[in-house]
Amino acid sequence: MVQFSKDKKTIFSGAQPTGNLHIGNYLGALRNWALLQNDYNCIYCVVDMHAITVRQVPAELRKRSLETLARYMACGIDPEKVIFFIQSHVPEHAQLSWVLNCSTMFGELSRMTQFKDKTARHADNVNAGLFTYPVLMAADILLYNADLVPVGDDQKQHLELARDVAGRFNAAYSPTFTLPEPYILKTSSRIMSLTDPTKKMSKSDTNTQSWVSLLDTRDDIIKKFKRAVTDSGSEIRADAERPGITNLINIYSSFSGKSVEETEKEFEGKGYGDFKAAVGEVCADALGKIRENFDSFMNDRAQLDRIITEGAQAAEAIARKTISKVYRKIGFYSPEAKK
Ligand code: TRP
Repeated sequence: MVQFSKDKKTIFSGAQPTGNLHIGNYLGALRNWALLQNDYNCIYCVVDMHAITVRQVPAELRKRSLETLARYMACGIDPEKVIFFIQSHVPEHAQLSWVLNCSTMFGELSRMTQFKDKTARHADNVNAGLFTYPVLMAADILLYNADLVPVGDDQKQHLELARDVAGRFNAAYSPTFTLPEPYILKTSSRIMSLTDPTKKMSKSDTNTQSWVSLLDTRDDIIKKFKRAVTDSGSEIRADAERPGITNLINIYSSFSGKSVEETEKEFEGKGYGDFKAAVGEVCADALGKIRENFDSFMNDRAQLDRIITEGAQAAEAIARKTISKVYRKIGFYSPEAKK
């Protein structure tokens, strides 16, 4: 069982059970989650309940939840150090979410930009879950009294809402929840599209040459980097005016662990062709290793099931305490409660 230290801060984060991820996701989130596990008490959750706010194919969702766990472990998350579980296995998430719904205003949810975006994209399925999605996210975080939440730009507004809701609840019923702070990752640089380096790498880009999937073969990876759009000029030097080469330098430096300056030095006097080949190699090596780990986790279903079950038990032990406290404070009667 995971042993948490009282001296460390708690970090919570949730991952969507998505299929294909790209190297921007890896460098921006997956890898960092593993880096945090030694310095913080980390609780990580695969958010299958959030996933159903858009229509899912049930068999696919089931499979992807498992794959998401295996993928994170393949990237170095150690279930001996981290509480790692599937959201729907801990019913307190749904329970707290309902309570917090009653402390969240219609107006503030209406202002969420992600809700507006998703409404536009899924116009045929603007369900209430899509609207209250940030409340469930607040419940995820507040159940564990997380101090810090690593979030990308797209989730900042949701975290802000979680703080507001927590503050409102605390003010109405007495201090209960820790107000979570965003955790800004120092190491992550934005990974841009390989075909248009002024845009973020995105898996919704229909041009698959623009992004490198964690599942791409070695040959594909090397080819994609060879064809990556670079700028006029020939020097390997990072510079805001030259987004193409800068992006490749960032990718190389992230995978190799060398700094941007070291990278520039290493390739001094070399051309774009040599450099692109080197970026392809270091990326393919790293992803090859992850792929191997992933396959070995997926091939041991008994072990995965054990990890998921133990993770849910550890999470629920904490979540149960929060929910009991919350239910008492809001006035739900319990025959077991001390008079
Ligand atoms: N909404 C987040 C996303 O789409 C996932 C998520 C759910 C989350 N609950 C969370 C992230 C709690 C941080 C904390 O990426």
